[in-house]
Amino acid sequence: MNIVILAAGQGKRMKSALPKVLQTLAGKPLLQHVLDTALDLAGKSAKTGPIVVVGHGAADVKHFLQIASEQDARFCKVSAVLQAEQKGTGHALLQALPRLDVSEPTLVLYGDVPLTSKKTLTKLAKLADGVRSQDAALALLTQNLINPTGYGRIVRDIDGSVKEIVEEKDATSEQKRIQEINTGIMVLPTHSLKKWLKALRASNAQGEYYLTDVIAMAVKDGVPIRTTQADAEYETVGVNSRDQLAALERVHQLKQANILMEAGVSLADPARIDIRGTLECGADVFIDVGCVFEGCVTLATGTKVGPYCIIRNSIIGKGVTIHPYSHIDGAQVGASSLIGPYARLRPGADLANDVHIGNFVEVKNSRIAANSKANHLSYVGDSIVGSRVNIGAGTITCNYDGVNKHQTIIEDDVFIGSDTQLVAPVRVGRGATLGAGTTLTKDAPPNQLTVSRAKQISLQWQRPVKQEKKPATKKAATKKVATQKSIKAKK
Ligand code: UD1
Ligand code: MG
Repeated sequence: MNIVILAAGQGKRMKSALPKVLQTLAGKPLLQHVLDTALDLAGKSAKTGPIVVVGHGAADVKHFLQIASEQDARFCKVSAVLQAEQKGTGHALLQALPRLDVSEPTLVLYGDVPLTSKKTLTKLAKLADGVRSQDAALALLTQNLINPTGYGRIVRDIDGSVKEIVEEKDATSEQKRIQEINTGIMVLPTHSLKKWLKALRASNAQGEYYLTDVIAMAVKDGVPIRTTQADAEYETVGVNSRDQLAALERVHQLKQANILMEAGVSLADPARIDIRGTLECGADVFIDVGCVFEGCVTLATGTKVGPYCIIRNSIIGKGVTIHPYSHIDGAQVGASSLIGPYARLRPGADLANDVHIGNFVEVKNSRIAANSKANHLSYVGDSIVGSRVNIGAGTITCNYDGVNKHQTIIEDDVFIGSDTQLVAPVRVGRGATLGAGTTLTKDAPPNQLTVSRAKQISLQWQRPVKQEKKPATKKAATKKVATQKSIKAKK
């Protein structure tokens, strides 16, 4: 099947420098939602990939397609054609015409209608199927709306067959009362489409080449027209303004929340979760309010995520508790670990089972083995930390010398006193203890107490005493008033 995505329109109402189809829903450009579904629908064996008609912001949209194909090989199949001037939906499709395979039907999608499901499109494609390509029907995805204002109306004959589509601006007051609208999504027989598109005229209220005019042409040519509707209204909703985008975002998020709950996840409030990517959860996971999940996140069975956590591209093990306001990115957390509140795990943080990372602790590119703890105010970077290690409050690995990064190795059963600085590269031997306040610049031997600290002394000493202010003389007071008056006068 040929798939053409119309995406050349301006999207004036967004009032944005970004082309409308690159505005994001669930962290992903609208166009990418459409392309993901289109690629899924076409399947791996498809000869040709989706064609995107670009116009407004064409350079930005092409740049997006380039980056997408570098990150995901599926997108290499996607191509773009330019519609230099936006003369209507029919004119847009005309630009893609030379690339269409006439032996296959053509599915038309809109770049700003992001949530149409594969199921709905499969149903539509089936409806258009003929035994032979020349028997194919024209299949329209329609929708019944309580308020159809602004949309093209589906005009039917007395027998119920579709006669034509009339745009709002060209409709009679009687036609405006029709509640069945054209979603714009349709499947057309390509060999006829070629002929119809070339015959389009812009003789209408908007002076545009309407794709919708091909419906009447199909009727005239005796091509059967069939219609179907999506399961849910949001599937065919287009985005024109920021409020519509925000509304659709909530619909989409609620849908994802419901899928999670059906799979056995507890959400404190399904209206207060944001998944911008994929979130896989085991049974009995609990997620409190205000959490954001980005990229690919896995939460294993029994994990609890406190309020307002942000978790991106991470794997969280069984029975982990993540306390509020924690920020986890590119990390792996072993079973039964305790994280936060206010913890920050950065890329390469790899924690084994039963690790405790407490408040205001940052871990980056470090492996921490089982049963180790860093409970307060620490930075662990570029480190390998053994088992049963205790990292005291305020400990910092000084991994960066201003030019290069260096590694810190802390072996099993080490105890690090508070406010210690480990100047990397440095190694703390198994079972060593570092005294509080140590600045470690050389390796610490195993099983010994290492401490670097100025010697503590006590002196007899008198605290300075606050001096009494001298009472102001009459002369000085008069002078002060005079100066203030002159400042006021100058102002
Ligand atoms: C279109 C349909 C209308 C339908 C409505 C559904 C026509 C004539 N009308 O109207 O029946 O109810 O969508 O939302 O088809 N585009 C281009 N190039 C252009 C013009 C548009 O690529 O020259 C793209 C837009 O980027 C958008 C899509 O086509 O993705 C629809 O364009 P839009 O201007 O929104 O059409 P409507 O007037 O809403
Ligand atoms: Mg529109």
